[in-house]
Amino acid sequence: MDQGPVITGKGIPRIDGPLKVKGQAKYAAEYEVPDLLHAVIVPASMAKGRVTSIDTTAAKSFSGVVAVLTHQNRPWFWPFSFLYKDPVGPPGKPFRPLYNDRVHFSGQPVALVVAENYEAARDAAASVRVSYDREQHATDLASEVSNAYRPPRHRLGVARTPQPTGDADRAFSEAPVKVEATYKTAPENHHPMELFATTVEWGDETVTIYDKTQSPKSVEIFLKVALRLFRRKVRVVSSFVGGAFGLGLRPQQSVFLAVLAAKALKRSVRLVIPRDQMFALGYRANSIQTVSLGADENGHLLAIRHRAIAATSQYEDAQDPMLNFSASLYRCNNIKLSYELAKLDTVSPCDMRAPGAATGMFALECAMDELAYAVNVDPLVLRLANYTERDQSENRPFSSKALRECYAQGAERFGWAKRSHAPRSMRKGKELIGWGMATGVWEAAMSPVPARAKVSLLADGRFEVTTSITDIGTGTYTILTQIAADALGAPLERVVVKLGDSAFPFNPTQGGSWTAATSGSAVQAGCEKLKKKIISRAKQAGIIGNGQAAELLSPAALADLLKLSGRDNLSATATIIKVPFGKKYTSATHSAVFAEVRIDEELSVVRVTRLLCAVAAGRILNPATARSQIIGASVMGIGKALYEDAAIDHNLGRCMAHSFADYHIPSNADVYDIEVLFVEETDDKVSPIGVKGLGEIGSVAVAPAIANAIFHATGQRMRDLPITIDRLAHSRG
Ligand code: MOS
Repeated sequence: MDQGPVITGKGIPRIDGPLKVKGQAKYAAEYEVPDLLHAVIVPASMAKGRVTSIDTTAAKSFSGVVAVLTHQNRPWFWPFSFLYKDPVGPPGKPFRPLYNDRVHFSGQPVALVVAENYEAARDAAASVRVSYDREQHATDLASEVSNAYRPPRHRLGVARTPQPTGDADRAFSEAPVKVEATYKTAPENHHPMELFATTVEWGDETVTIYDKTQSPKSVEIFLKVALRLFRRKVRVVSSFVGGAFGLGLRPQQSVFLAVLAAKALKRSVRLVIPRDQMFALGYRANSIQTVSLGADENGHLLAIRHRAIAATSQYEDAQDPMLNFSASLYRCNNIKLSYELAKLDTVSPCDMRAPGAATGMFALECAMDELAYAVNVDPLVLRLANYTERDQSENRPFSSKALRECYAQGAERFGWAKRSHAPRSMRKGKELIGWGMATGVWEAAMSPVPARAKVSLLADGRFEVTTSITDIGTGTYTILTQIAADALGAPLERVVVKLGDSAFPFNPTQGGSWTAATSGSAVQAGCEKLKKKIISRAKQAGIIGNGQAAELLSPAALADLLKLSGRDNLSATATIIKVPFGKKYTSATHSAVFAEVRIDEELSVVRVTRLLCAVAAGRILNPATARSQIIGASVMGIGKALYEDAAIDHNLGRCMAHSFADYHIPSNADVYDIEVLFVEETDDKVSPIGVKGLGEIGSVAVAPAIANAIFHATGQRMRDLPITIDRLAHSRG
């Protein structure tokens, strides 16, 4: 006991790794439940209007079909949209599947076919005939710009655009050097490996819902209210989540519909969203952004203006922190930001790894690169010339900020000093070579909602940790086991962490890069509390004197203790509340990303041959899982930069892609060398365990670093993402 961290900080392999490679980790659609029905969604084939009739005759004639639910025959549910709000949802009216005849977006569920087997449900769903009364839809952000509006405030304050400072308009107009450009980012779809899915086990007393979600507690509360499940015990289980990235922050329509069907039929039901329907589940909002940078001849910033218009749906004001970091990343006295939304007839956009920042920082960091060339200064030197030790937008210091070290160590490792500044100055054979860089930043926060964890001493001398948070592939099981082992002075083998169950003590949504700091602190506090309890019980029982605590934690001593106290376990539950910073500090995670691209000059094929990510994220609990977070996020960054575009056919108002054949995410062949380094950063203010969080920072700076590298290679400034082969070839003329 009190040996200091010996396990935390080590790159131990994932605790859940063996279960996953052996196929023993169960995902939502894999639970075997007796007498299971299968449900398949019939999606709307147009974007806006009303359903006038639904012909289900053919569907019902399929053998095995049990029911076809539509807005006309579905069971009663609340008509008040506010009852469908979830903890992280934006202002507006949440979408309620099968609520009425109204169609808000293409792909919206208009019927649900339920059958004894999946094949019957799928085939019957294809035979449902829906007639519509169509209205003129709008799905093109560019043509809705004139209708842009300032969004109402999100109650979590997630996209609170910082107030202007100084006089950015005047400073820009008077600046000796000006850079002004418009950047566009494409909508991106969520495609975690695991499809969104729910298995509902319907029982007379208990409804157990195996769901893919980032927050079993939110889903439990949502279902209890929205579908009035108060008479039964509702338990939501998400022991393993095969990637989520933000799409699982809010209860998805899959869980609503599966439970609706189960309730209607009093049977167990499974619903899996097939890959093609994943395209209608939510997306990273596309954006049109204009950045204006005014500077002196040496590149010192005199003015920053950043205006963004992002897509939202007709029914919600989806928003994310697209501009927040433009006010705080660099030293500048005149800053003006404007964040607006434009309504489209699409599903609501949703959070997606580094929501907002990955999009807004693309524009800002490309503009910084443009400024570097306008003043003929190395892009890294330009960042250092504008470095700030304070958060100017809030006029306060950072709780820690090792970005300077990220720049220095990243540049050193990458070999940035060998770069020749001029575009088109590096090549090998028929490939142009480009080196580009960008800065990343993301908020380091604890969850705004308190988190609880329970730690129990079991009869066999092991410790069990339970908390309702999920592990979405981030390594939560592993880091929590490490934290508990250290806090209890026990080896890893004696700690069992159980997660992803709404029956466990309340722990909010996994997301926001806050889980390690929040749940980690809760687990640590729970362990401390249990340790105290054990010691005081042991003293009472007279089995130890003072100063003998270390021996006490041997399994034999603990077994004695339990026997003496006549119990088969001893437990403690701790609650952790966000560090009450007040307004004293800003906390952020930083990164510097350096990219090398090689571009076939004739074919315009871009290869990202090297990525170097230098990250400052406070204390690193596990360098192996931490590195995985950054690598995975970097791969998503490559997708954002070069491939991913959930393009809509504006004629039909629907996403053109239906599979990975037409929505390309980076494959192994697209990913070369990604190197991650964590710089030392000590922060005793950000969270009780000194952790800042790593889930999102890896996604922020990759796309701009690649775009800047493409400019360096080709001399072509590509301002629209993704930078596809055709766009690059076309821009060359
Ligand atoms: Mo994250 S976009 O909070 O899963």
